[in-house]
Amino acid sequence: MEDKLKIPNHVGLIMDGNGRWATSKGLSRSEGHKAGYLNLEKLNKYIFKKGVNVLSIYALSTDNFKRPKQEINYIINLFLNNFFKEKDFYQKNNIKVVFSGRRNHFSEKVLKAMDDIVEQTKNNTSAIFNICFDYSSRNEIIDALEKIKEDNINNLDQETFNKYLYHDLPPIDLLIRTSGEQRLSDFMLWQVAYAEFYFPKTMFPDFDEKEFDLAILEYNKRNRKFGGIK
Ligand code: FPP
Repeated sequence: MEDKLKIPNHVGLIMDGNGRWATSKGLSRSEGHKAGYLNLEKLNKYIFKKGVNVLSIYALSTDNFKRPKQEINYIINLFLNNFFKEKDFYQKNNIKVVFSGRRNHFSEKVLKAMDDIVEQTKNNTSAIFNICFDYSSRNEIIDALEKIKEDNINNLDQETFNKYLYHDLPPIDLLIRTSGEQRLSDFMLWQVAYAEFYFPKTMFPDFDEKEFDLAILEYNKRNRKFGGIK
């Protein structure tokens, strides 16, 4: 039965609810982010195993930098101290890791770690893991327009515009935001133009493999028309 399910080519994941998950258990917000991170480490492997070709995650938004420095540094350190150690997994599994976002908030050490992973995995071809880190979709669009101006592009069309984004990725098919919030918060506005939206109430640290399977089942119930008739 299961193998008949359509698997979305590109999944977008807004990992929301780490803070509420922690507070409900009497833990600190940082402990919530740690639990969210550990969940992600398992979940992304499952998502790729299911056959998703591109996974984009919202790891840190540009607006998140309004939060206390300590919380932001904690999330950045999860990347440096935990995710960085995982880089061989992506290499072994032929997954290309890319980052989307501006680079001005990060220290040299963080930028070097990001560049190392990108360099190590750049020729991988079986899937793409796009980590949105200091990311704002509105800034991505502005940054694209600046480059388009520099290149004196005339007759701009959608395909060309897509190439000027941080990465020339296919459109998002399924957008998941956990924790029951139903908004995009400046995440991949161009890429979600025809995405199916799924808003489970589960807090991200509890959004496990079974929950992802439910998302796929829901996705399979949707009738995608792309503006046409079906
Ligand atoms: C939103 O929950 C979550 C974040 C701002 C950060 C999510 C980051 C991770 C799970 C790990 C980062 C991954 C890498 C690869 C470094 P929230 O804090 O807004 O939750 P709340 O709305 O319940 O307060």
